[in-house]
Amino acid sequence: MKTNVAVFFGGRSVEHEISVISALQAIAAFDKEKYEIVPIYISKQGRWYTGPKLLDIRNYRDMNRLVAESEEVFMRPEYGDYNLYKVNTGMFSKRNPVAAELHVAVPVLHGTTVEDGIFEGVLETIGIPYAGCNTLSSANGMDKITMKMILRSEGIPVVDYVWFTDHEWNSGKDAIVARVEEKLGYPVIVKPANLGSSVGIGKAADRAALIEKINNAEKFSQRIIVEHMIENLKEINCSVLGDTDERISSVLEEPIKSGDFLSYEDKYMGGTKTNAGMQSSDKRIPAELPADMTGRIRNMASDTFRVLSCHGVSRIDVMIDEKDNSVYVNEINTIPGSLSFYLWEASGISFTQLMDRLVALALKRKRAADRKTFTYDRNIFALGGGTKGGVKGAKSPKFKG
Ligand SMILES: Nc1ncnc2c1ncn2[C@@H]1O[C@H](COP(=O)(O)OP(=O)(O)O)[C@@H](O)[C@H]1O
Ligand SMILES: [Mg+2]
Repeated sequence: MKTNVAVFFGGRSVEHEISVISALQAIAAFDKEKYEIVPIYISKQGRWYTGPKLLDIRNYRDMNRLVAESEEVFMRPEYGDYNLYKVNTGMFSKRNPVAAELHVAVPVLHGTTVEDGIFEGVLETIGIPYAGCNTLSSANGMDKITMKMILRSEGIPVVDYVWFTDHEWNSGKDAIVARVEEKLGYPVIVKPANLGSSVGIGKAADRAALIEKINNAEKFSQRIIVEHMIENLKEINCSVLGDTDERISSVLEEPIKSGDFLSYEDKYMGGTKTNAGMQSSDKRIPAELPADMTGRIRNMASDTFRVLSCHGVSRIDVMIDEKDNSVYVNEINTIPGSLSFYLWEASGISFTQLMDRLVALALKRKRAADRKTFTYDRNIFALGGGTKGGVKGAKSPKFKG
């Protein structure tokens, strides 16, 4: 029997289109002898659709038409119900027909509301095995402030930073500027805490620019981070595959930027060229680095994956300060663009094998979770504890037993 794999993509995120590309690449890579793929496209409005038209990238030029020609579907938030239901019940039927019986979910979603644990929480509620990071590691990985706090406390190097909320900024700009100048000096990089794709990020070399960049970042997020800016920067990315028990790190990639820092265009449009598509963004694989530096970065990526309790495939982006060869973890992408397949191919694991491993890891985690105890069969109400005295007695129910 084939395994029915739901590939989720799209979503209410600024990285919607990137997710469509990543997902269609992943769907093409699955071994169709072993897997039945059910594409589930989440529109920018948050509605779910399935159907064969979703498999052709050209159909996304007109998204309204695409969804009109696809089947709107949903899952119920009931533990153990892995069915995908059609929204349309048909004229004479009261029950929603089943569109597909799912076995495993593979989220190929990027950005806020989908890569930050929110969507993973839906899958956890249903209980369906799924690939990739769980709610906790997704959320910790997405928030640039929380991630840095965790890594720093575990001895993984990150650049110095100052963080604050939009409310704190608006009620005391001078104090925050003073903190930045005292702790970091200039230049600095200002970032909204939880976006991706360089959205809202700015560089500031003086006080006026700092204020302007924070005012801008504040439009995107309630939490803002200002970081020491590495001026002699070399960026390196490393993918890690597995779970906290067992994991491997990939060969390294050096993305090539066209301006001061990697922009949305660099990442997805192939630098200044316009329509080359994500897979052709300029990069050097493997990165040209001395062997000891390569080893150091691969270990750091693997440690980051473990400390954040990641799962499946993630990509850890590090920064080398070429002034003194120090290395810092910049960020983690818990669902990396193209699932980092090009780094795994260069490491001897084909895209098809990568998808195999993600499904196997999803099933392994589900088996492990099923072995843990979540509920007690005992019903404290049925035991009579605290019921005798009516409302009064309810003050001291006996939870321990
Ligand atoms: N501390 C820093 N020093 C120098 N450059 C930085 C620093 N932080 C980020 N950058 C530059 O900005 C880019 C985007 O920042 P990043 O934190 O990776 O955000 P995103 O989540 O949007 O990818 C990086 O790829 C890098 O080029
Ligand atoms: Mg980045």
